[in-house]
Amino acid sequence: MAPSLQAVRGMNDLLPAEVARWQRVERCLAQVLAAYGYQEIRLPIVEPTALFERSIGEVTDIVEKEMYTFLDRSGDSLTLRPEGTAGVVRAGIQHGLLYNQQQRWWYRGPMFRHERPQQGRYRQFHQLGVESFGCAGPDIDLEQIALSARLWRRLGLSGLRLELNSLGTPDSRARYRDLLQAYFSAHEGALDEDSRRRLHRNPLRILDSKNPDLQSLIAEAPQLIAHLDEESAAHFAALRAGLDALGIDYVCNPRLVRGLDYYSRTVFEWTTDRLGAQNAVCSGGRYDGLVEQLGGPATPAFGFAIGLERLLALLALDAGDAAPETPHVYLVWQGEAVMPRALQLAERWREALPDLRLVSNAGGGSFKAQFKRADRSGAAYAAVLGESELAAGQVQFKPLRSEAAQQQVALTQAIEWLRTTLTLAERG
Ligand code: HAM
Repeated sequence: MAPSLQAVRGMNDLLPAEVARWQRVERCLAQVLAAYGYQEIRLPIVEPTALFERSIGEVTDIVEKEMYTFLDRSGDSLTLRPEGTAGVVRAGIQHGLLYNQQQRWWYRGPMFRHERPQQGRYRQFHQLGVESFGCAGPDIDLEQIALSARLWRRLGLSGLRLELNSLGTPDSRARYRDLLQAYFSAHEGALDEDSRRRLHRNPLRILDSKNPDLQSLIAEAPQLIAHLDEESAAHFAALRAGLDALGIDYVCNPRLVRGLDYYSRTVFEWTTDRLGAQNAVCSGGRYDGLVEQLGGPATPAFGFAIGLERLLALLALDAGDAAPETPHVYLVWQGEAVMPRALQLAERWREALPDLRLVSNAGGGSFKAQFKRADRSGAAYAAVLGESELAAGQVQFKPLRSEAAQQQVALTQAIEWLRTTLTLAERG
């Protein structure tokens, strides 16, 4: 027998019961985003490789070793998007939407990184991202962080920790980079191989190292926050004052540097200690230089992305995760002659009651077998239509989740009965 085919390592199937949970969360997120005036944007999953090299940065883990890059049949180098920001900026420039305009956008979808899979870290994962353009002040930083805090509240999620840092302007960062390089060079013998490699190319990333042997060296390293330019310091102070005013708790983490190169000034992460090593549920910050760097007009920008697998895993840890949406009614019917009438009836009910969740039996079966399926579907009622009911112009509604008596309802009254019994909204 041929070996059975399996999903690609690190890429997960989302089975129907799981999808129902995702949809509930996604609906809730979309509602909050609409309440803040953010609009959804949908973009290709594949982009020119150069887009990511020029935005995320050539000396980052993502570009150096995690991208799914391939030549297409025309010989063009394409990449499965490892994140969403670069594509959003590309689209904004391409469609002329960033000239003297403010934009508030969000997106959702799969991202691809060839990382080592483990709990909370996958090769295909999903982000919900938020980006805004054209706002230079700390007000938009505050708006988006408040928005993210509201998302957690709306989802009933508590215990996330907000970590905050400022990376300053490219100039102040370049000066700091030299300082840091000098510091780590003086201790080069103590560095591990990864950090030695980063020393000359991207010394800030050494601060991110998880190697326990390096922690005391890193703790003693000069801190960027102490070398900020005046404007960045004022921006950061205003953001913090805003967070205090809104009652949003945070901790300043001078080691938060982020793994993508496009950030300037504010960076932040919402972290948890309940998901093992992969502790960032949501992260982002300001990226004032990126639009211009990719060929657009100089445009300040701010954004973040939520890792949906991590968010869903966190929600699943808490009790009260509601059951998947079950049908209201399972239509049990029998007889060849009944078939067109049964399906016609089902169509009429769906037409009249757009909120009705109705599963119609398919594939035949005795009444007993059909009731078994009805029960397994989780439906509240079985609607029974046999030849005798049809002849009498009746349908029987049998409660499946209670001992209440079966009810006989005239076919002409069935829609009204469903509407009142199931308290379905009146629409259409
Ligand atoms: P990022 O920190 O690379 O930022 O990813 C954002 C979030 O995606 C992370 O906090 C994490 O929850 C989730 N995530 C990342 N990699 C994986 C993975 N391999 N498996 C599961 N979840 C993962 C960005 O992507 C930026 N584009 C965010 C942003 C938007 N900055 C400005 N605007």
